[in-house]
Amino acid sequence: MQKLAIQGGTPLRGEVRISGAKNAALPIMCASLLTADTLRLTNMPDLHDVITMRKLLEQMGVAAQVAPGEIAFTGDLINKWEAPYDMVKTMRAAILVLGPLVARFGDARVSLPGGCAIGSRPVNLHIKGLQAMGAEITIEHGYIHAKAKRLKGARIFFDIVSVTGTENLMMAAALADGVTVLENAAREPEVIDLANCLRAMGAKIAGDGTDTITITGVEKLGGAEHRIMPDRIESGTFLVAAAATGGSITLTETRADILETVLEKLTEAGAQIKVQGNTIHLEMNGRPKAVNVRTAPHPAFPTDMQAQFMALNCIAEGSAMVVETIFENRFMHVQELRRLGAQIDVEGNTAVVKGVDHLEGATVMATDLRASACLVIAGLVAQGETVIDRIYHLDRGYEHIEAKLEKLGANIRRLK
Ligand code: EPZ
Repeated sequence: MQKLAIQGGTPLRGEVRISGAKNAALPIMCASLLTADTLRLTNMPDLHDVITMRKLLEQMGVAAQVAPGEIAFTGDLINKWEAPYDMVKTMRAAILVLGPLVARFGDARVSLPGGCAIGSRPVNLHIKGLQAMGAEITIEHGYIHAKAKRLKGARIFFDIVSVTGTENLMMAAALADGVTVLENAAREPEVIDLANCLRAMGAKIAGDGTDTITITGVEKLGGAEHRIMPDRIESGTFLVAAAATGGSITLTETRADILETVLEKLTEAGAQIKVQGNTIHLEMNGRPKAVNVRTAPHPAFPTDMQAQFMALNCIAEGSAMVVETIFENRFMHVQELRRLGAQIDVEGNTAVVKGVDHLEGATVMATDLRASACLVIAGLVAQGETVIDRIYHLDRGYEHIEAKLEKLGANIRRLK
């Protein structure tokens, strides 16, 4: 089990290039199942989840040509319409092959994704939507088996906003017969990036980025070239780390328009932020002020930034409330932060964080991807050494994070 050792106390200074977005790359890789032509993706992040998804597609017969930061997928020889449990259990996003497989081949067997640390993560809305489009779905032995001669356009209402639910059904509808309307759809920027890629392949999609997306099915989709959008959560994570350590950093190859609520909260915490084109500069002089956050679907404050802001609030001036409304168990980092001396009270989905003037380094354990990022931030500000165990969670979603942090002056090393 690999660990990270961090000596806290150094303000982060310098420049960091933001990688392509994990949560855009994963659904867009699955779009390669929708065509027999080549889908070439650039600005691809080098992440464990991307490797897992590539292997999942390859075992179905998709050919993948890998180059640094690029993967070209060709789906002309797909001969297996199945996502096995051993690949789905480590990466829930594998559910995103379901819609494309049913849409193109009329048959798919995808393992039910297990839950994960942050919640039960059901996929009932994905299934309900495909049934509305005419798929016959049975669930047995832990697998979803979906069959359809040809999917038909339908009007689908999401009673809960679901990011991958929206993405799965948008891909399925792209090849369906007729018009599909997704209501109460997710508005995340990654949904728009997927829609842009699908349009480049010949799909007819309108309304992405709003809560109503209309897809007019076509007979066939072709190949395309698509550049993955920058990762807004990686951007937010580095900005919070710089704010927490009282540093001064510049993010390059990112975008500010996809991060507005996070930038507002950082400004409220006392950071100076300057945006120029695709760079964001953050300067933090003195101790941050505590800020309340309440997660909700985009464009509200993102749940994937909740743990990072909790770390910031641990050493901020004053107290703050952190309310998690998306996942039922996304406070796993609280116990670990308390080991570092944080003062946090949790009542249901609300945590009250009372800022302390310093944290003390300790050994802590990562439980999920964003909780790991939170512990890295806490380790960067704690006095003494913090050792973080189970950092495979971190490698799933952050490209070369210790190299990027070292370049910003952090005293951090990976323990084999
Ligand atoms: C996506 O997960 C992201 N993952 C998550 O990022 C992110 O936290 C989440 O959206 C919310 O923004 C990817 O894009 C690969 P949801 P997803 O469906 O789509 C409930 C990270 O750290 N729900 O929007 O799985 C669900 O239980 C990861 O990068 C149903 O009830 O999340 C949750 O309470 C973590 N039934 C809520 O909806 C369903 O069929 C939102 O989930 C689907 C979801």
